[in-house]
Amino acid sequence: MKRSERTPHTCVFGLGWGDEGKGKLVDLLCPDFDYVIRFNGGANAGHTVVVGSEKFALHLLPTGVLHEKAIGVIGPGVVVDSISLIGEIDALAQRGIDVLPRLRISDRAHLVLAYHKIEDQLSEQAAGDGGKIGTTSRGIGPCYADKMRRTTAVRFCDLLDEKNLRARVVAIVAKKRAGLEAMFSEPRQHGAAAQSIAARFTRGSETASESLTADAILTDLETARSRLRSCICDTTALLHDAIDAGKSLLFEGANGMLLDVDHGTYPYVTSSSTGPHGIGPGAGVPPSAVTRLIGVTKAYSTRVGGGPFVSELKDAVGDRIRERGHEFGTTTGRPRRCGWFDAVACRYAARISGATDVALMHLDTLGTFEQVGICTAYRVDGETLTTPPASAARLERAEPVIEFLPGWGEDIRSAHSFDELPLNARRYVERIQSLLGTPATMLGTGPERTQVVMRNP
Ligand code: GDP
Ligand code: IMO
Ligand code: MG
Repeated sequence: MKRSERTPHTCVFGLGWGDEGKGKLVDLLCPDFDYVIRFNGGANAGHTVVVGSEKFALHLLPTGVLHEKAIGVIGPGVVVDSISLIGEIDALAQRGIDVLPRLRISDRAHLVLAYHKIEDQLSEQAAGDGGKIGTTSRGIGPCYADKMRRTTAVRFCDLLDEKNLRARVVAIVAKKRAGLEAMFSEPRQHGAAAQSIAARFTRGSETASESLTADAILTDLETARSRLRSCICDTTALLHDAIDAGKSLLFEGANGMLLDVDHGTYPYVTSSSTGPHGIGPGAGVPPSAVTRLIGVTKAYSTRVGGGPFVSELKDAVGDRIRERGHEFGTTTGRPRRCGWFDAVACRYAARISGATDVALMHLDTLGTFEQVGICTAYRVDGETLTTPPASAARLERAEPVIEFLPGWGEDIRSAHSFDELPLNARRYVERIQSLLGTPATMLGTGPERTQVVMRNP
């Protein structure tokens, strides 16, 4: 029997604003799969896996590469900071995990280069305090913008075209310098941070990652070519052959549905398609081939960076969730904003992604509360809404309608089955499942690889 007949091609993706616990779930499911594929985002992602006392945080590598049999694939839709990727590969090698022989990078994937990170920082700075997106400063938006613009992009296949690469990079860097000079001359760019970026830029330092000369960018690209050459291939053909051979594929979404460029809380979103709908463009596999769609959410809501968050708790309750859940960013270390579970936003995310299952993580974190809240509707401008409005300004004005349920006040970290959970915890899960209209088949009871309760509702 072919493996894919037993284990359907599956996608694990976020239903919230990222950091839902996708890494942990991918790690748990991975032994049943042959390939683990990233199809969107870049080093803005931070996926954590806890194995005993060891903690791994992966940014560009698919989490599944921690399992020695899995082949990790970085698909065409990922924007790759090659220097950061090489750093991750080397850090894992130092811990005894050699991923290079098991890594494949699409020759169609785009490279994030030094100027993208500078553009990211300057554009945030120019937006001023009120307008900042609160990006991860990893150059994600500027790299996707170049991809869409087409004439200023560099892909992995360009890296292998040694004859034409230099001329291409020289032309792109000239355009980039002109664009950045215009940005530096904006009145808002006179802050200390912008000045220090400008100083690096005009000095033309030979430090590859900090300078914007064509030579410095080419040095970074040559490092990428020499270190990653053996991994670069047509991953689209590879995955189609794998499907034909009956292998099972696990797609690892980055970020979350509420950060999706089309469906999220625009403009406070990332620049890619973050759910299973991103698999077509981001991996070259028809989304219809992927039949199990596991949407991951926490049992409460969190968000990092700017943007509306209707059920946010800016009080001691929010602080308590942050403390108990260790809610600090995996990529940037920023404190995460915390609030009650937003069922309006999560149902919307589950519907548009077609989630077949919900994984409800961090149920243990709510363990000490006397009562737990669920946001079931938004009140805004005299209306009661059960789907999120398009306008961020309208969302900012919205007030949450909160339904309170009794808490369970117990440590549930050692529970192995649904029946072992306290009655109020089970009721909470069932209420969320009925609000979402999707079965909650996996429940997170702690950060450890093994702390998940599986259920068949
Ligand atoms: P990702 O980006 O979706 O992979 O999530 P992150 O790794 O950025 O953040 C999730 C955090 O929650 C990590 O620190 C995980 O170790 C932790 N975590 C995941 N599931 C659970 C859970 O069920 N309970 C607790 N207490 N921690 C969890
Ligand atoms: P994982 O995969 C949490 C957020 C940023 C910012 C917005 C835009 O770990 O869940 P970007 O750098 O992408 O232009 O930032 O999106 N963001 C994330 N928040 N987890 C992530 O990834 C995120 N990726 C992007 O904080 O608000
Ligand atoms: Mg994360």
